[in-house]
Amino acid sequence: MSSNLATKLREGTKKAHTMAENVGFVKCFLKGTVEKNSYRKLVSNLYFVYCAIEEEMENHRQHPILSKIYFPELTRKKSLEQDLFYYYGANWREEVAPSAAATAYVERIKEVSATQPELLIAQSYTRYLGDLSGGQILKKIAQTAMNLSEAGGLAFYEFKDITDEKAFKANYRSALDELPVDEATADRIVDEANAAFGMNMKMFMELEGNLIKAIGQMLFNSL
Ligand code: HEM
Repeated sequence: MSSNLATKLREGTKKAHTMAENVGFVKCFLKGTVEKNSYRKLVSNLYFVYCAIEEEMENHRQHPILSKIYFPELTRKKSLEQDLFYYYGANWREEVAPSAAATAYVERIKEVSATQPELLIAQSYTRYLGDLSGGQILKKIAQTAMNLSEAGGLAFYEFKDITDEKAFKANYRSALDELPVDEATADRIVDEANAAFGMNMKMFMELEGNLIKAIGQMLFNSL
């Protein structure tokens, strides 16, 4: 019997998705205003978030529900490490630290993993399905805006082990539908996905402040 979780998640996070698309930082990004320092901060925050998601998914890979949605080909940790090397240099590990919003996001991932691991479905869904959906568009925008060559700084958007992203997404959605979760659990998963959208928005909002400061500085320098 289908839990219909894929549709529940899509419908249940529609409003949050629209809100996320309308955060200033994201809107600027879509218009091609990507400032390198803000972008590399985003990459470093995402690094800590994905490390947490991937570590906890790995810890629960034998879990009766999570095992069915465990896809190691999605993991982003390695590609984010490559990008951090590109933006911060060989000493990147000493240079990067999670922001306040990223720290809270990581803490939430660890908390649900310890107390209600089935909610990690929501954490995976919100990031990975988003990456698979808008990734290629965002890659092109970032590449043009920051004048990057094909060679560096964009590994995050490349899913080397996934040949057909559309087919993979369809498969992921069927896996969601086949999960043995009852109505109440499905509702909690949708709530957690909305919370995950909120945590992403908070990370973007922090960067909005940096972006405004950087643009102000550029205007000041041009006077
Ligand atoms: C799906 C675009 C931001 C998470 C989609 C889809 C598009 C899209 C076109 C539909 C793909 C399809 O139906 O197959 C965008 C654009 C964004 C953006 C232009 C702004 C930059 C975000 C953010 C998140 C996110 C910030 C969360 C962190 C998702 C998820 C889905 C999705 C989870 C899958 C929906 C589903 O099929 O259940 N996005 N998105 N998106 N996006 Fe975004």
